[in-house]
Amino acid sequence: MSPNLSFIAAPMVNQSDFPFRRLTARYGATTVYTQMLSPELLIHDQEYLEFHRRDLQSINEKPVSTVVQLCGNNAEEIIEAGRKIQDLCDAIDLNLGCPQEVARDGHFGAYLLGQKDWPLVENIGELFTSRYNNNRIELVFAVSCMAQSFKVPVSTKLRLCQPSSKTVELAERLEASGSSWITLHARTVSSRRRRQGAADLSEIKTLKQSETLTIPVVSNGNVRVFDDLAQNLEYTGADGLMVGETLLGNPCIFSNNILPDPVEISLEYLNICRLYPGVATLKTIQTHIRHFIDFQCARRPWSRKLRAALNACTDLDDIEHLLRVKIQRWRGMTINSSTETDSEDEQDFDNGVGNIEDAISWHLSGMDQ
Ligand SMILES: Cc1cc2nc3c(=O)[nH]c(=O)nc-3n(C[C@H](O)[C@H](O)[C@H](O)COP(=O)(O)O)c2cc1C
Repeated sequence: MSPNLSFIAAPMVNQSDFPFRRLTARYGATTVYTQMLSPELLIHDQEYLEFHRRDLQSINEKPVSTVVQLCGNNAEEIIEAGRKIQDLCDAIDLNLGCPQEVARDGHFGAYLLGQKDWPLVENIGELFTSRYNNNRIELVFAVSCMAQSFKVPVSTKLRLCQPSSKTVELAERLEASGSSWITLHARTVSSRRRRQGAADLSEIKTLKQSETLTIPVVSNGNVRVFDDLAQNLEYTGADGLMVGETLLGNPCIFSNNILPDPVEISLEYLNICRLYPGVATLKTIQTHIRHFIDFQCARRPWSRKLRAALNACTDLDDIEHLLRVKIQRWRGMTINSSTETDSEDEQDFDNGVGNIEDAISWHLSGMDQ
């Protein structure tokens, strides 16, 4: 099935588990990405491979495309790893956008966007053996190898190059080397967090206006509310939209303008987790629940209590009890105690979605199973 790129659930480390992907598909996502997976671990860590194959074998109730995202900088490893999962997905994406320290240290993700890493590709057969250079990927070369080696389409997800005017040139080369579509998160590698500035959607518009680029462009960044979807598409002219952080709080954003009740949507997610035991870790589930609740109830007097109570849960029954009994009671209590303000509550919220660094290091060390 060729992926329908209209509404895409973004790859998010420790948060793109199958139950969450299925939930977003139920509410309008047409394509869902896995978190970035480590080629090295897929090849060398049997438990990691089995965990992610189990996740990919789970069945969606709606026709939705699943894209597996790989990171890394070793073309041969990426291909060997991709071959281990390509039978279970509709496309394989190469992560060229990760800005975190772990990507800088390992020289992958957005740190491959420098021009020295994307030489011209003219003779792919020859390049496969000769252009592989000191363990450093030659970007366009790797995408060529992927496109030639995999039986599913290959895509790329990138941030802006520096200077950003180089982005169009890179995108054209990626198309020439076989990328079936390009997702542009219109921030540079230096703006790592949302709070460090909005994505520059004019860059996506510029990319879309390139006369030589013919593959679809997916716009990523700045969608916070339902109306942003149409505005973003209209402004950028993109062929599809990818949403990350906002989807964590509101997994229904693609389907309508009404926020789901945070407890109801948490219970719905929990039910999917029960149907597919062993594909989301307890930590992943706890983090999802926190996002669902925090999105609408952040900075409540009971925010700290919620966090502590959630962390103390040892299984899904505990979480369900917390949702059905305690949180509902606290929500009822907020009317009387809304004058309380607690600076620590704000601190808790700030530590929420943004703490990706630890999650990524943890995941890439193979500890997320
Ligand atoms: C918790 C979290 C984990 C992420 N993990 C990945 C990842 O594994 N691969 C990737 O390409 N981007 C990752 N991202 C970036 C998102 O896919 C997306 O590009 C970014 O959040 C901007 O989109 P947004 O403004 O809709 O959130 C992550 C973002 C978040 C918030």
